[in-house]
Amino acid sequence: MELLFWRNAQRTPRIVVLVSLTLIILGLIPLYHPFNLYAADVIVVDHSSKTPQPYQTKDQKIKIAEEDCDVFIGDWVPNPDGPYYTNTTCWAIHEHQYCMKYGRPDTDFLRWRWKPKGCDLPIFNPYQFLDMMRNKSMAFIGDSVGRNQMQSLICLLSRVEYPIDISYDDDQNFKRWKYTTYNFTLAAYWSPFLVTVKESDPDGPSRTGLFNLYLDEPDVKWITQIEQFDYLILNSAHWFTRCSVYYEKNQIIGCRYCGLPNVTDLPINYGYQKALKTTLEAINRLKNYKGVTFLRTIAPSHFEGGEWNKGGNCIRRRPFRSNETSLDGLCLEFYMTQVEEFKVASDEGKKRGKRFRLLDMTQAMLLRPDGHPSRYGHWPNENVVLYNDCVHWCLPGPIDSWSDFLLHMLKLEGRRALEESLQLK
Ligand SMILES: *[C@@H]1O[C@H](CO)[C@@H](O)[C@H](O)[C@H]1NC(C)=O
Ligand SMILES: *[C@@H]1O[C@H](CO)[C@@H](O)[C@H](O)[C@H]1NC(C)=O
Ligand SMILES: *[C@@H]1O[C@H](CO)[C@@H](O)[C@H](O)[C@H]1NC(C)=O
Ligand SMILES: *[C@@H]1O[C@H](CO)[C@@H](O)[C@H](O)[C@H]1NC(C)=O
Ligand SMILES: *[C@@H]1O[C@H](CO)[C@@H](O)[C@H](O)[C@H]1NC(C)=O
Repeated sequence: MELLFWRNAQRTPRIVVLVSLTLIILGLIPLYHPFNLYAADVIVVDHSSKTPQPYQTKDQKIKIAEEDCDVFIGDWVPNPDGPYYTNTTCWAIHEHQYCMKYGRPDTDFLRWRWKPKGCDLPIFNPYQFLDMMRNKSMAFIGDSVGRNQMQSLICLLSRVEYPIDISYDDDQNFKRWKYTTYNFTLAAYWSPFLVTVKESDPDGPSRTGLFNLYLDEPDVKWITQIEQFDYLILNSAHWFTRCSVYYEKNQIIGCRYCGLPNVTDLPINYGYQKALKTTLEAINRLKNYKGVTFLRTIAPSHFEGGEWNKGGNCIRRRPFRSNETSLDGLCLEFYMTQVEEFKVASDEGKKRGKRFRLLDMTQAMLLRPDGHPSRYGHWPNENVVLYNDCVHWCLPGPIDSWSDFLLHMLKLEGRRALEESLQLK
């Protein structure tokens, strides 16, 4: 299950939030963006004064340092060409994201593309992607929004090829597929907390239904399996809003809303920060892992008019413009944690020859309240826990754009490798 136990519909005063977000965007984030990370000289990013510089896919000579457009800042613009697959061409659409099947009447949400401020982000090209992925492997690790992204990728690739299922067994939480023509392996590891979790037996004597999180132990289900992968795409956050007991060194050190006697209630971000740190440190310590680790930042949910279980819903039918909303509350906290821990891990990674990149989807997805299933993730009379789903994303839908960003970053990766090899000569 994949729920949110947070997100207030009321907005904090706009000016305050805008100021803090502006500080983040202008002051902090550009430094962390991958194309700047490895540039020799740090760039002062001033989004307002740049003349548009179209992205040149062919030109391998472009220096990374010159690629200073921040693709993650921008707006959604109309795109009459979307969507790029339908429910009849893709079987990978997960039931609950299959909005057309459940009668979603509007289709405008399918016809937008992301326009970064100051440059262009090309629409995903499945042939180019698969060509780049020859003999390579990629794993998605995290929660159901990560699975949502992977299914979107499979659907986008279905114009070229369907993968075959090469899973080791029938455990739906650990899947492997192969694109045989390209010898490309895709895998999914379900691990919504990324660290070890032992779910208390909900029917056990204590009937707590709490999650016991071992904040200093990476989840062995994936950490022991990934050394051979070329690309990892990690995500997490939403599950950390749940009632949990936190363990470190096998001792209870506190909890989140557990109501247990003598156990300290810790701030909501405490567990998440520790868990993310543990995860990224564990990747840094993997001896044989040579891949690129993408940390995908939080995709905000859009409950309005109430919380997820108190009548909140997402009924907007258009994207926000970037000046109409801003990140706030817990989502902002989680996002800041991701950026901070990413920075720590990538600094350490540079010493250890490990590559970390931030797949910074938060701002783009903040602007897409129209892209969720809402009540079109199931039949109207079905009794489901998350009746109005404002967390996941319809397929097809705005989450398809994540592959545009991913491909863009993979191309930068190629250039960076080229530059790094030139520097070695
Ligand atoms: C596919 O979507 C259309 C609406 O676009 C809907 O009428 C149809 O029932 C859907 N097909 C399936 C197999 O769900
Ligand atoms: C993929 O691997 C095969 C067999 O090892 C090799 O012949 C081929 O050149 C490789 N292709 C690429 C693009 O690396
Ligand atoms: C497929 O790719 C793997 C590396 O991921 C390589 O070892 C293997 O030789 C490739 N197989 C073929 C048939 O190209
Ligand atoms: C809680 O702590 C107090 C003081 O240390 C102790 O007297 C009490 O027995 C503890 N209660 C439980 C349930 O552990
Ligand atoms: C946002 O920007 C658009 C276009 O730049 C403008 O038309 C609109 O009035 C602005 N909205 C707000 C709330 O500032």
